[in-house]
Amino acid sequence: MIRNKLFTTLLTGLLILLASSTQAQTPTQWFNDKDLTLTGAYYYPEHWDESQWERDFKKMHELGFEFTHFAEFAWAQLEPEEGRYDFAWLDQAITLAAKYDLKVVMCTSTATPPVWLSRKYPEILVKAEDGTVLDHGARQHASFTSSLYRELSYKMIEKLAQHYGNDPRIIGWQLDNEPAVQFDYNLEAELAFRNFLRKKYNDNIKSLNNAWGTAFWSEVYSDFDEITLPKHAQMFMNHHQILDYRRFAASQTNDFLNKQCLLIKKYAKNQWVTTNYIPNYDEGHIGGSLALDFQCYTRYMVYGDNEGIGRRGYRVGNPLRIAWANDFFRPIQGTYGVMELQPGQVNWGGINPQPLPGAVRLWLWSVFAGGSDFTCTYRYRQPLYGTEQYHYGIVGTDGVTVTPGGHEFATFISEIKELRKHYAPRDTKPADFQARRTAILFNHENSWSIERQKQNRTWDTFAHIEKYYRTLKSFGAPVDFISEAKDMNNYPVVIAPAYQLADKELVDRWTAYVKNGGNLVLTCRTAQKDRYGRLPEAPFGSLITPLTENKLDFYDLLLPEDPGTIVMDGKKYAWNTWGEVLIPAADAQVWTTYTNEFYEGKPAVTFRKLGKGTITYVGVDSRDGTFEKDLLKKLYAQLNIPVMDLPYGVTLEYRNGMGIVLNYGDKPYTFNLPKGSKVLIGNNEIPTAGVLIFSL
Ligand code: GAL
Repeated sequence: MIRNKLFTTLLTGLLILLASSTQAQTPTQWFNDKDLTLTGAYYYPEHWDESQWERDFKKMHELGFEFTHFAEFAWAQLEPEEGRYDFAWLDQAITLAAKYDLKVVMCTSTATPPVWLSRKYPEILVKAEDGTVLDHGARQHASFTSSLYRELSYKMIEKLAQHYGNDPRIIGWQLDNEPAVQFDYNLEAELAFRNFLRKKYNDNIKSLNNAWGTAFWSEVYSDFDEITLPKHAQMFMNHHQILDYRRFAASQTNDFLNKQCLLIKKYAKNQWVTTNYIPNYDEGHIGGSLALDFQCYTRYMVYGDNEGIGRRGYRVGNPLRIAWANDFFRPIQGTYGVMELQPGQVNWGGINPQPLPGAVRLWLWSVFAGGSDFTCTYRYRQPLYGTEQYHYGIVGTDGVTVTPGGHEFATFISEIKELRKHYAPRDTKPADFQARRTAILFNHENSWSIERQKQNRTWDTFAHIEKYYRTLKSFGAPVDFISEAKDMNNYPVVIAPAYQLADKELVDRWTAYVKNGGNLVLTCRTAQKDRYGRLPEAPFGSLITPLTENKLDFYDLLLPEDPGTIVMDGKKYAWNTWGEVLIPAADAQVWTTYTNEFYEGKPAVTFRKLGKGTITYVGVDSRDGTFEKDLLKKLYAQLNIPVMDLPYGVTLEYRNGMGIVLNYGDKPYTFNLPKGSKVLIGNNEIPTAGVLIFSL
C-alpha cells in the first residue's frame, strides 16, 4: 500500500521533472531501468578445485550476486598449446553458474599470454625504454603493437566468440584487463610510429619538421626513416614529438581493443562488449575504442594513502574519487559499469589497512549514485597463492567465511532489490538539480603538453581542474566531463580549465556556444598553443581574443613560499602557480585584481556578456580553491542558477527518482530533506560512511 502510494508520487514527480529536463541520458539497450543496477563478483574457476565450484556459486547466489566474471587471465587454460583449445572446463563452470542464476561476463585473456607463446615468439614481449625486455611470469608483458601478438590474440578470441557469442548465459565481454597505454621500444613499434607519422603528415617530411619545430637545435629530419621513438629519459627531448608519440601509443591500445571488439561482435549479437580501464584520465585512450558498447572502470579506494577526511579518512578514501570516475566515464556513452571495486584490504598499497566498517557499502552507493548499470567486485575468493595472496575477497581463505566487505556487498544488493519494487525511470531528477548541470571540457592532451613545460614546479593540471570540480560537487551540481566531440549546448555552463591546446575552430565553437546563450568559463593557460604545441605567431594568448576581447599583458609565476594575493569583493586569496595580467575588453567587468607586485590593481578575472550568454575568464590559479569556489558562487548567482553548499565530503546525486546522499566526512551530517520527499534508506542524520536514500 505504502509502496503503491510511493510509486504514484514518483510517477507524478517524473512527469514534472522530465518536462523540465532537457538533457536525457541515452538509455542503453543492454540494461533494464527497473533493475536499477546489477552486482557481480569475479571468479577464477581455474584457481580452485572443480569440486568447489558449485558450492561457491551457490553461496555467491545466496549473497545476492547476479553475475560472475570468468576467464580473465586464463589463456594458458583455454589454449594450452598453440591451436589446441579447451573450453570444456569453462563450459562446466558456466553451466554451474547458470544453475544458481548467475550470468557471466566473459573475458579475452590478452593480458596474460601462455608461456608457449612468449617462448616461441619472444618478439611479442614489450621492450622498455632502457632496453629491458619483459618476461613471462607476471602479466601485461605482451606488446599491443606486435602484429604477431595481435594475430595470435585474435585467433584465440575468435574461437571464444564462436563458442560463446550466442550463449544467452553470457551477458557481455570484457576485453583484456585494465588496458593502458604502453610505451614499447621494440623495432616494430618504431616502424609503426613512423607509419603513423607518414599518414598524419601526408608523407611530407617538411610538414612534420614544421609541426615539430625541428629548426630548433638542428633537429630537422630529411626522411621519416630517421625518426625514432622519443626517449623520455632525455630531459630536453622535443616535446612536439612526444605529443605525437603519446597520440600514437594511445592509438595502439585503442586499435587492439577495437579489433577485439569487432571480432566478438561478428558472433555476439546480444552481448555487450566493454573493457575495464583504470581511470588514468590523462593517458588518452579511454573512450578511444569506438566499437565498444560502453566504458567501465576499476576503482580502489583504500590502500594506505590518506586522501580522505580526518584521522580515519584513509579507511574511507577520497570523497571525489568515485564521483569523478562516474562523471568522466558516464558521458562517453550515456552509461557505464564498474568492473572492480575492492571488497576489503588490497595487497599492493604502501600500507593496506582495513576499510572503515560501512565504507565498502558507501563506495557501492557512490558508484550507483553516478548512474551506473552494474558494479562487480574483484574478487569472490581470497587467493591462496600467487601475487595477490593478501587481497581480500567476498569470502576468506577457507572459501566460505564471508568477510566484512562481503557482508556489505550483500547488504547493498538486498537494499537495491528492495528499491527495485518502486523504481522510476533513470532520468527522474529534480528541476533545480538539472538547472545546475555543468560540463567540464577535458582533453588529456592539455595535461601532456603542460607537463612538459610547466613553468612552475608547483603547477598541477589535475589539482587545477579539481578546484572547479570540487566546487561543483559542493553545489550539488550534476557534472559531465566531456570531450570536444560532445555538444556543449546541452549545458547551461561549460568550464574549460587550463585548456592549453586549441585552434580557431574550437574558439569559433566556444563563441557560438556563448552567443547562443551558453555560459563559458575559461581558465588560465587556455588556448595558448596550437594542436602541435606551438605558440602562434601573434600576441601571446591572443587566439581567444576574438571571444574574450581581453588582451593578455603578461603572466607571472611566484615562489610557493612567497605567494601573492588577489582580491574579489573585498576578500583576499593567495596564489602562486600561475597568474595572467589581463587588459580587459571595454565592456568587461573586472571581478578580481592583483593586490601586490608591480601589477597591483590589474585584472585577473573578467566577466562579459556576449550575445545571449556570458564569458568568464579566470587568469589565475589559487592556492587552495576557496577562490574558485567563491568565483563560481558569484557566477551562478549572476546566472540565477540555484546552488547548494554541501561541505567537502558530502555529495548529492539523483537517479531513478531517488536522491542519494553520501557522507565521506569524519562527522555526522544532517541533510535537509526536500519537501515531500520520503526516506527510503538511512536517516537524515548521516554518520561517517553513511548513506541516505530518499524518494522525490
Ligand atoms: C586491479 C587489477 C586486478 C587485480 C586488482 C587487485 O588493478 O585489474 O586484476 O590485480 O587490481 O587489487
